[in-house]
Amino acid sequence: MKEKAYITTPIYYVNDVPHIGHAYTTIIADTLARFNRLQGKETYFMTGTDEHGQKIEQAARARGKTPKEYADEISAKFRSLWDEFEISYDHFIRTTDEEHKQTVQNVFEKMQANGDIYKGEYEGFYCVSCETFFNQRDLLEDNRCPDCGRVTSLVKEESYFFKLSKYEDALLKWYENDELCVIPKGKKNEVVSFVKGGLKDLSVTRTSFDWGIKLPKSANDDKHVMYVWLDALINYLTTLGYSRDNARMNFWPHTTHIVGKDILRFHAVYWPAFLMSLGLPLPKHVAAHGWWTIDGEKMSKSKGNVINPREVANAYGLENFRYFLLREVPFGQDGDYSQKALIERINSELGNGLGNLLSRIVGMSAKYSDYKIDSKDVIKFHKAELDEAKGYLDEAIKNLENLATNRYLEDLWKVVTLANAAVAKYEPWSLVKAGKSDEANALVALCANLLAKVAILLSPAMPKTCAKIADTLAFSIDTASYESLVLKNEISNFTAKATEPLFPRIEKELMGEAREPKEEAKVEAKAEPKEEKKEEGIISIDDFAKIVIKVGEVLECERVEGSEKLLKFKIDLGEEQPRQILSGIAKYYEPSSLVGKQVCVLANLKERTMMKKYVSQGMILSASDGSLTLLGTQGKVKNGAIVG
Ligand code: MSP
Repeated sequence: MKEKAYITTPIYYVNDVPHIGHAYTTIIADTLARFNRLQGKETYFMTGTDEHGQKIEQAARARGKTPKEYADEISAKFRSLWDEFEISYDHFIRTTDEEHKQTVQNVFEKMQANGDIYKGEYEGFYCVSCETFFNQRDLLEDNRCPDCGRVTSLVKEESYFFKLSKYEDALLKWYENDELCVIPKGKKNEVVSFVKGGLKDLSVTRTSFDWGIKLPKSANDDKHVMYVWLDALINYLTTLGYSRDNARMNFWPHTTHIVGKDILRFHAVYWPAFLMSLGLPLPKHVAAHGWWTIDGEKMSKSKGNVINPREVANAYGLENFRYFLLREVPFGQDGDYSQKALIERINSELGNGLGNLLSRIVGMSAKYSDYKIDSKDVIKFHKAELDEAKGYLDEAIKNLENLATNRYLEDLWKVVTLANAAVAKYEPWSLVKAGKSDEANALVALCANLLAKVAILLSPAMPKTCAKIADTLAFSIDTASYESLVLKNEISNFTAKATEPLFPRIEKELMGEAREPKEEAKVEAKAEPKEEKKEEGIISIDDFAKIVIKVGEVLECERVEGSEKLLKFKIDLGEEQPRQILSGIAKYYEPSSLVGKQVCVLANLKERTMMKKYVSQGMILSASDGSLTLLGTQGKVKNGAIVG
């Protein structure tokens, strides 16, 4: 029977369009899935979207849509990007799928039947952005979320709890007995110390909003919806048919979850506890990668530095982008994206390294042997190189299995370098001149064999590029060639053909600043009035027409560290993205009291940077008479409505 592998990405929140962070997680998982297939394993790979919860409900409301309408729109964006990127998923789940709702309710019933659920009241803090509960002692000042820094809200509501505390010891045993259950090691240590710090029971239902999955009918309690993380994690079981037809549950013991470091706690603490409650085996690996920053800064909509993966792939090539993401950072660590670094890797490692090797093989074989590459003398002249390469290939396999993607690629490039260095060392052109054609041909054959081995093992990361290499040298990439050329280090004959360079050199940055377009306030240029007497302090109607004031809703508001005066707002002006605006009103308002209020905003004010790092994209209008009052509307109007 074939070995099995089940690979998962996190399911993506639909409050945000896909960015390179999401692309990174998905590309790692896709590479791993392709690698498992190459190894001949029966592989099931899933991804999807996480669509319930307060965050999505708020994001939809801010855009004047129902949560389902909004989720449909953004979920489709994720799916179409992954399709465009040829992500090899077998199943795309949406948490609004009927079969998922049913599975979540079945799971809740099972946990209840196992005595792990009880009813109580939750009182504490909640970060909507992270969809996480916090105790006050864990918060930053002003009750800000320790994970994202946003202001949390105090919640007091009836809730069902999951007996997480009951699983503390069992979790610690799992971490201790299974070395690779959470990788990399540094991240595992963080998880272990979190659990050692003591686990409290987890609130798993909410009553203060209703965009979520209802409790099962048997609970007879209509007020509650499932906590979004309980709902979301169960997706991994829904996909396999758990508690319905269980059709693919034989994949379950072979699970690798790829997640970002920010959501490791949910996957390495809560999730295994839920699974223990259900009596299911625990995942083989929960693998946590680091975060991408842009020019050293965190990516965020308000900074306008969110990188659109489609644009990068269009400009630089999808597979070059995949290579860069996998190669640039050690798995688990944060990395910085820049076009400069991307171009450098494309030109040097891909172009000068891999591409050059293929061109040389094609060129030499054309000259010396009419494109025929005969390997009969390779062992005679180059056994040492073949053996050395085998060591690197074995390391590459081990590293990819442990998700050390950068080392896996580094190992493959050691083989590329070995081949290119052999050309420089043995100078086949001199060998030919000296009448040693058999040696020259053996060298070309060595290079072709090394390149074929690299291409087979590189194919999970760069499938199309490797298919091109295989086509140029007439070999196939499949489980059989993986076993013979890579695992057994066998050699093969090849027939080359002329080809275009794989990686044309890139001379300059191909993208403008990869920033999300900001909605420019549209002010029609009016002709200057011809002869108008200008009275001091008086403006004309045309002057007034230059001013755009809009109604906006405060989505977030928080104090600015290091300033007594400033508050930092996220305001929805009915535009594609909310704006970040700073305002000197900290003395007059408590930030949390402003969330949800509508205010008037001068919307076409030139953007400015405050305190050297905060971009402010407008001005909130207020009336001042010694004290200060924000200007709002009488009754709710549509966000973005023009004031005038
Ligand atoms: N919906 C939850 C996951 C539920 S899984 C049962 C969620 N979604 S998310 O859309 O916010 O994040 C999904 C993934 O994207 C996470 O793995 C997260 O780490 C990753 N990234 C989001 N921003 C990122 C970067 N800037 N860099 C790298 N990855 C980051 O969390």
